[in-house]
Amino acid sequence: KKSQAWSALFSQPMSELVKRYTASVDFDKRLWRADIQGSLAHADMLAAQGIISLQDVFSIQEGLAQITKEIEQGTFEWKLDLEDVHLNIEARLTQLVGDAGKRLHTGRSRNDQVATDVRLWLRDEIDLILALLVELQKSLLDVAERHTDVILPGFTHLQVAQPVSFGHHMMAYVEMFTRDEERLTDVRKRVNRLPLGAAALAGTSYPLDRDHVRQALNMEGLCQNSIDAVSDRDFAIEFCAAAAVAMLHISRLSEELVLWMNQNFGFIDLPDRFCTGSSIMPQKKNPDVPELARGKAGRVVGHLMGLITIIKGQPLAYNKDNQEDKEPLFDTVDTLKDTLRIFAELVTGIEVKPEAMEKATLKGYATATDLADYLVKKGLPFRDAHETVAHAVKAAISHQVDLSELPLNVLQQFNPAIEKDVYDVLSLRGSLNTRNILGGTAPSQVRAQIARHRARLS
Ligand code: ARG
Repeated sequence: KKSQAWSALFSQPMSELVKRYTASVDFDKRLWRADIQGSLAHADMLAAQGIISLQDVFSIQEGLAQITKEIEQGTFEWKLDLEDVHLNIEARLTQLVGDAGKRLHTGRSRNDQVATDVRLWLRDEIDLILALLVELQKSLLDVAERHTDVILPGFTHLQVAQPVSFGHHMMAYVEMFTRDEERLTDVRKRVNRLPLGAAALAGTSYPLDRDHVRQALNMEGLCQNSIDAVSDRDFAIEFCAAAAVAMLHISRLSEELVLWMNQNFGFIDLPDRFCTGSSIMPQKKNPDVPELARGKAGRVVGHLMGLITIIKGQPLAYNKDNQEDKEPLFDTVDTLKDTLRIFAELVTGIEVKPEAMEKATLKGYATATDLADYLVKKGLPFRDAHETVAHAVKAAISHQVDLSELPLNVLQQFNPAIEKDVYDVLSLRGSLNTRNILGGTAPSQVRAQIARHRARLS
């Protein structure tokens, strides 16, 4: 009895080694729901077009309902001999309903079938990811809102640069995740197009109604060229690129959390439930979650590279290379979802230490730019003001004090135009309040940013 869909032509059974090498059922079985969804829409259309009988559709529907139950209950027997999810389901269907099952594949190839399945599956995963991105942003908004007035040393080159609001810093990540949301929403449009009707590569001679199937599957458009329809994996590449960027954002946040938790910073603490200890050093509390997320970002970037490379040398149209798209794609989805889920929770648990942040800001002469700007307002050209302040900072360093601690008569030695009101801008809060420009770090601006995002997300 033949075991493979094509074996009438073959005079030798497939080698066991080859069977294992070519089979994908172990991992592509997770596409089963999309596969059944696609088959139901295809069968329904075949009947509407008079290509198969109504009786056949009823049988197919019944059989696929039975298969759904079996898979959900874990009693479905997946067979390596049947190579992939598509052939496993089709074989079981035929076993259950006979000839009607054999008619299901009319006008269809596994090439347009697999492309359809992956797209349907990915579309739904994107929707879950988008919801998780919203959750994460809401968590960040909460943290930002609670710490709008907390002062953090803003860094450039990882050296103290200017004071910023901790809330403002958190809102930078909200901007990034907003763009990730935009990117995925845009990718979704190109994922959500229907390949069915392309058949193996050239289209089909059956009078299929592709638009009927498109509507049934709630897709936005039809793939317009049959050769492209079966060989395009751009949609997966684009998705993996968008996912990689989102993971990079998580990774940067992770790096900051790890740094901030270091004893020499002491800016934050993370809840115990997100940390682990050491089996040898009793005092240790390690930020494993952000560290792992940073590592997993590398893994997702790797999947993107893998996928790109799988496509690179392929001639048109379908090639079996494409079977290799699934594991990186699946793992990208799983990793991103897990990471977003855990970060939405972790972020709300960040315990902020305002005194440590403020103390660190005072160590770095973070208001030097404010003194320069002050002198500019007194009529000095900016370059001269810059030079003057450099001298003032040098003096403050040698006296081991902050700029705001230099007495007025000392400051006046650098420039006689300096008056008592200079201390308003030399204080950290004074400095913060002056950055009152759209996108700036003045707490009033940060509150406005938060309100804008809250309105968008509600
Ligand atoms: N398992 C295959 C894949 O993942 C399905 C399509 C196979 N088509 C074929 N003609 N061998 O791409």
